[in-house]
Amino acid sequence: MANAQQSKESWGTRVGVIMAVTGSAVGLGNFLRFPGLAAQYEGGAFMIPYFVALLVLGLPLAWAEWAMGRFGGRHGFNSAPGIYRSIWRNRLAPYCGVLGLLIPVVIYMYYVLIESWCLGYAYYFLTGEMAQLGAQATLPGGGLDKQVYVDFFNSFTGADANGVSTSGQGVSALVFLAICFALNFALIYRGLRRGIEKFCLIAMPALIVCAVVVLVRVLTLPGITSGLGFMWNPRTDNVGFVQSLLNADMWLAATGQIFFSLSVGFGIIVTYSSYLKKDDDIALSSLTASAGNEFCEVALGGLITIPAAFLFLGAVQVTAASGSSFNLGFMTLPMVFESMPMGRAMGFLFFFLLFLAAVTSSLSMLQPAIALLEEGLGLNRRASVALLGFITLMGTGFIFYFSKGTLALATFDFWVGTFFIFLLALFQTILFGWVLEIDRGMAELDSGAQIRVPRVVGYMLKYVSPVYLSVIFVAWLYKQITTKDGNMFHVVATKPIATMAVAFIGLVTLLFVFLIGQSVKRWELVEQNQQEVQI
Ligand code: ALA
Repeated sequence: MANAQQSKESWGTRVGVIMAVTGSAVGLGNFLRFPGLAAQYEGGAFMIPYFVALLVLGLPLAWAEWAMGRFGGRHGFNSAPGIYRSIWRNRLAPYCGVLGLLIPVVIYMYYVLIESWCLGYAYYFLTGEMAQLGAQATLPGGGLDKQVYVDFFNSFTGADANGVSTSGQGVSALVFLAICFALNFALIYRGLRRGIEKFCLIAMPALIVCAVVVLVRVLTLPGITSGLGFMWNPRTDNVGFVQSLLNADMWLAATGQIFFSLSVGFGIIVTYSSYLKKDDDIALSSLTASAGNEFCEVALGGLITIPAAFLFLGAVQVTAASGSSFNLGFMTLPMVFESMPMGRAMGFLFFFLLFLAAVTSSLSMLQPAIALLEEGLGLNRRASVALLGFITLMGTGFIFYFSKGTLALATFDFWVGTFFIFLLALFQTILFGWVLEIDRGMAELDSGAQIRVPRVVGYMLKYVSPVYLSVIFVAWLYKQITTKDGNMFHVVATKPIATMAVAFIGLVTLLFVFLIGQSVKRWELVEQNQQEVQI
């Protein structure tokens, strides 16, 4: 296979590929998940484990993924199974790539649903239906009744009962979901340059402009400094600062957030960078994309939601909401926008920017599987898009139908969006540090580089990252197993919908293993033919 079938697709411009990778990273995690976690865990103290995870895992692993992806691309592969096989000549290698397909595809199944809620909320702000809800919620003595927003969210998303959710105010959730699904697949169908790159080049600046407008509005609200203080001052009233750092949960949450936010350990970056050319810079591009993501997360996401919510709703409500992105994003924030001057426009801009950020991320989740279907099975674009469309539609349909309490969604998110990400991240650090090895890996990073990545990054990837990752992973598993009733193992064993969700993930895994097996057969055949021609 190597060199025989150089990929026909490639990125158009350097800015385009950086925007695409940044677009994959910047998403709902930046504007909802991060502020919620920071507020939940001792305010500013959260930033310490967060930055440690960024330096020890996030940045090094992003560099490793860019380097391994371009290495695989040079050998003719764009899919994770092909890329891992080109690095590790072992029969198991392509099968380890199943995680690099499963993670993005399964996350897409629920991510696109949340994306459609963002579009729905933007629409409701624009048409004034949120203002009507605000009028319904207004209490005689002033203030808003949160229950009205909770009921709205539950009926719109179907969180109150299983079945096809067609209720809600005005346009049904199904319509927004259909629009989002169609948009993602239309863009993927157009390909790397004309679809993903072109869309990200427009959507990324647009979402940053929207975010800056909302940020200026929030930062000019009278008394906002108290909200900023709530978000960023380490809250160590009851325990000392050092003691607050001993909270193991906070370290786990911060590490998970870094992975989710940077889209590292997803199998996406390896695929995206495989379309680069041999002498394209990857060292500075990776750093730029990570820095862009951190700017959106800390400087935009971190300054908008929680400070504004604290100002209007106070510490008790914000603390109650911060443990759940859905509570914060879809029940608390609409109340906040209803309470502020120019709130209707701000609400629209905020949810529209969430929608744009979500599309640039969900798009990137489709490309890894498309790459395998095309290069492994030889399908053309139309067939691969149709097959992936069918698989993802099954998964999204499952979550959309079994919507009660968002249990199916939470089960997918736990197993694939957390558990498997840890595993793939661990596999990739070992692949880079121990199989490709530091010298070859760092040489790959240096090729065409516009900055020199310090050598210590290689040693970190070889020794520190796998150990750090294993410790965090074991601690996280231990916590899951020892948490009575609430842990996901128990939930899967006792709740039929969670059991079905896990069975569904199992089926998709088997399907991908089968497709990888077929691809390996094809690759071996091509390689045999090449050898015969050479002889
Ligand atoms: N990186 C994407 C996000 O943060 C998945 O939402």
